[in-house]
Amino acid sequence: MDSGSMVGKVCMVTGASSGIGRATAGKLARLGATVILVCRDRARGERAMDFIRRESGTRSAELLLADFSSLQSVRELARTYLGSHDSLHVLVNNAGIAKLTRSVTPDGFETTLQVDYLSQFLLTNLLLDVLKKSAPSRIVFVSSVSHYGGRIDLGDIQMEKGYSVMKAYSRAKLAQVLFTYELAERLNGTGVTANCLHPGAVATNIWGRPLGRLSFVMKVARLFLISPEEGAGSPVFLASSPELEGVTGKYFDRKRERRSAAASYDKTLARDLWDFSAASVGLA
Ligand SMILES: NC(=O)c1ccc[n+]([C@@H]2O[C@H](COP(=O)([O-])OP(=O)(O)OC[C@H]3O[C@@H](n4cnc5c(N)ncnc54)[C@H](OP(=O)(O)O)[C@@H]3O)[C@@H](O)[C@H]2O)c1
Repeated sequence: MDSGSMVGKVCMVTGASSGIGRATAGKLARLGATVILVCRDRARGERAMDFIRRESGTRSAELLLADFSSLQSVRELARTYLGSHDSLHVLVNNAGIAKLTRSVTPDGFETTLQVDYLSQFLLTNLLLDVLKKSAPSRIVFVSSVSHYGGRIDLGDIQMEKGYSVMKAYSRAKLAQVLFTYELAERLNGTGVTANCLHPGAVATNIWGRPLGRLSFVMKVARLFLISPEEGAGSPVFLASSPELEGVTGKYFDRKRERRSAAASYDKTLARDLWDFSAASVGLA
């Protein structure tokens, strides 16, 4: 991509304090975009802003705070954004966690489900009007190859039985893919596209934190992982490449379009998941 190719575009990146999110925001800033960094912690967010300003030389970066384990916080984020901006060309839904043990948010949802999926569902829906108004615009979901192992049982989506970090994470990532496809269909004809991706195996904090005392495993694994800069290549490609103008409802493994898990093409499941999600986050 040419530097300057995103001049005039406003791009929001969630989970921009570290890893793939910070690198994605940095690359988009280098392409000339105005970047909105969404972080949950002010100090970490400000450090990411300083880093991006230094690296890209941009003056067009803004920090907004939101904790995705709180639906109220996501609503406030959307309200704040819409109160001060009238355009949005790219939304990169990147924030995510993996939790070794099961916990429940104050909203009553299993934490991974809420942070990695339900909050993205809410934020995306709250920003749809401004994305449509700004079309052509793009919604990008940072999913994972883990979605292939995901299973969604709407009878126990909260995983009260048989919780494991991988089951919870891959279920949330499969939910993201189903949401991407259903959203792309619903947005047909609006000029807003929705695609999802696996960024590769990237050396970030995501697995270091849940592994805790076993994080030495991560130290060794890091030798075989790609850098966050390389990992950001695919979200930036989906967010900005002219090749993908009008391409929607697709899953990419890095920059290659791939077939996603069989369950992700289940249209009945996608609609049922949408209804469950809308009711859960209080959308009509
Ligand atoms: N790394 C990989 O190999 C890999 C592979 C496939 C997919 N992914 C996906 O890539 C995305 C980015 O992850 P990463 O690998 O870059 O890991 P990371 O460095 O841990 O970044 C995760 C980001 O999400 C934010 N976040 C976590 N919980 C949050 C919450 N409750 N509210 C708001 N923000 C929250 C983190 O903020 P804090 O700094 O405040 O914690 C951080 O900015 C995730 O969706 C992950 O599932 C990663």
